[in-house]
Amino acid sequence: MCGIVGYIGSKEAFPILIKGLKRLEYRGYDSAGVALLNNKGELNVYKTKGKVKSLEAYCNHKDTTGTIGIAHTRWATHGEPNDKNAHPHYSQSESIALIHNGIIENYLSIKKLLIREGYTFKSDTDTEVLVQAIEYIKSRYDLSLFDAVKRTLKFVIGAYAIGVIEKNNPNCIIAARKGSPLIIGIGEGEFFLGSDATPIIEYTSDVVYLNDEEVVKLERGKKIEVNNLNDEAVHHDIITIKLELCDIEKAGYPHFMLKEIFEQSRSLAMCMNGRLNMELKEIKLSGIINHIDKFRDAKRIIITACGTSWHAGLIGKYLFEEFCRIPVDIEVASEFRYRDPVINKGDILIPISQSGETADTLAAMDLAKSQGAFIYGICNVVGSSIARGTDSGTYTHAGPEIGVASTKAFTTQVTVLIMMAVSIGRELGTLCESRYKQIVGELSNITTKIEETFMLASEIERISSVFTYARNFMYLGRGYNYPVALEGALKLKEISYIHAEGYPAAEMKHGPIALIDEEMPIVVVSPKLKIYDKVVSNVQEIKARKGKIIAIVTKGDVDIKKMADFCIEIPDTEECLTPLLTVIPLQFLSYYIARIKGRDVDQPRNLAKSVTVE
Ligand code: M6R
Repeated sequence: MCGIVGYIGSKEAFPILIKGLKRLEYRGYDSAGVALLNNKGELNVYKTKGKVKSLEAYCNHKDTTGTIGIAHTRWATHGEPNDKNAHPHYSQSESIALIHNGIIENYLSIKKLLIREGYTFKSDTDTEVLVQAIEYIKSRYDLSLFDAVKRTLKFVIGAYAIGVIEKNNPNCIIAARKGSPLIIGIGEGEFFLGSDATPIIEYTSDVVYLNDEEVVKLERGKKIEVNNLNDEAVHHDIITIKLELCDIEKAGYPHFMLKEIFEQSRSLAMCMNGRLNMELKEIKLSGIINHIDKFRDAKRIIITACGTSWHAGLIGKYLFEEFCRIPVDIEVASEFRYRDPVINKGDILIPISQSGETADTLAAMDLAKSQGAFIYGICNVVGSSIARGTDSGTYTHAGPEIGVASTKAFTTQVTVLIMMAVSIGRELGTLCESRYKQIVGELSNITTKIEETFMLASEIERISSVFTYARNFMYLGRGYNYPVALEGALKLKEISYIHAEGYPAAEMKHGPIALIDEEMPIVVVSPKLKIYDKVVSNVQEIKARKGKIIAIVTKGDVDIKKMADFCIEIPDTEECLTPLLTVIPLQFLSYYIARIKGRDVDQPRNLAKSVTVE
């Protein structure tokens, strides 16, 4: 989704802004632009459809001087991706420029009022309406830019993160947020704006996270000044973030996705670090220890999330029900939030999100919170909106995930869910001590087994080259590996654009079996399971119809191996931990197919990394 960068200080702004936009490219976008105030008092806006590279080329031989500027990558919502709809947008008199991430829901009614006042519009965007409204309010009430932004935002319905600069005010950037992410970086005599920390981290680790409906004035030589929309001053502590530049670079890999697949042993180790004591075979999650009574009293757990995080949540349902005997509802956040769900006192809602900024998950969380649920979040991005809105929770500590296709976020989310379920189960007495120790002992070995699974990469690359012809894929799994089948299918369609469906294996004969012929590749995720024999029967049904079987099995498998066209063998582990291993071959499969087909693996078409609009 849209990316925001801003700079004010003593350095030339343009190179910082362009580099920042490049660091935000992973979020997904279709056009880019920049606004700069030069020392002649001119406010220059340059913008173009396409990549940041095109913007750079477009700016060649243009005046890109100035020590204050704002820049943007746009992911189209209102109006198609083209030059005129790209941000920044000028106000009517071209004396104010604004960038925006979010959606102004009441933009049409504001636009009508402005048209009546003689304003004209060059774009189809809701953003242009906002900058025009700020100019209108500023001149009508004779306000400073800071005050005009506050006054305007009072009328705005919707979500926004904005950066605003003004021709006659070369010493100040105004920014604000509600529902869309925005971070302020604080350097030595300079300030930065970023949709996340990636464009800032090279310059400073000191940041301030704005809350919803807060407006900030970043003025040269002064301290950061934050107000709410009622003009009241708000104090924010400066937070030091732990993020290294190497975490957000490719480190020699051709794609972030491949780097992140191979990072999974390390990210799981980080996720378990300080929580899992390998010698004592004990797990200690402070969020759980501090709130164990909530889980003891819980009548129900509701898990909500989107995309890959929802698949991790489905595994959570199997885990909590098996080990804690607490009923779990799992629901896609966009449905949950609009369904008028029944939430009872004592319900626990677990929102799961890599970015912590997904609009639907955030809204689902707010809804459950307003109805009295206890919120226990699972998030990767520290300080994100979801992380800050929870009552308690556990960070996944996967490190920055840049590839649009989620990989290490998924396995760390599942790891957190495993640690939560077995800790709660032990406390509740629904998981006996010996079984607890067995699972925790096995979890201690899982990173070694993940590294063994990495050795399969070249074999899977070879298998992938066989299937680039396919227009459809089917993924089947049962139990803990049914969500893995869904995840494998999502990965493939996201980055290779091949249609893929995931099903519970036994559901196949209720319809999808009609699709099977000698051309159809079917990925069967069937490690050693309690109901392995049932999966064997499902595979026989495919074989009888000549489907091409790619099976993910446990080392030493006999029955499925005999029937499969291609067999990928993973190390043996506890059934509840198998998703941590079975998903890796599926990540490789989608990566290599997409790569062989020449797809843009890290920034697939139409997709955004962080979906901050509903
Ligand atoms: O940041 P979140 O985990 O909340 O994101 C949810 C989905 O948008 C995300 O998992 C998406 O499905 C990924 N592109 C999957 O690879």
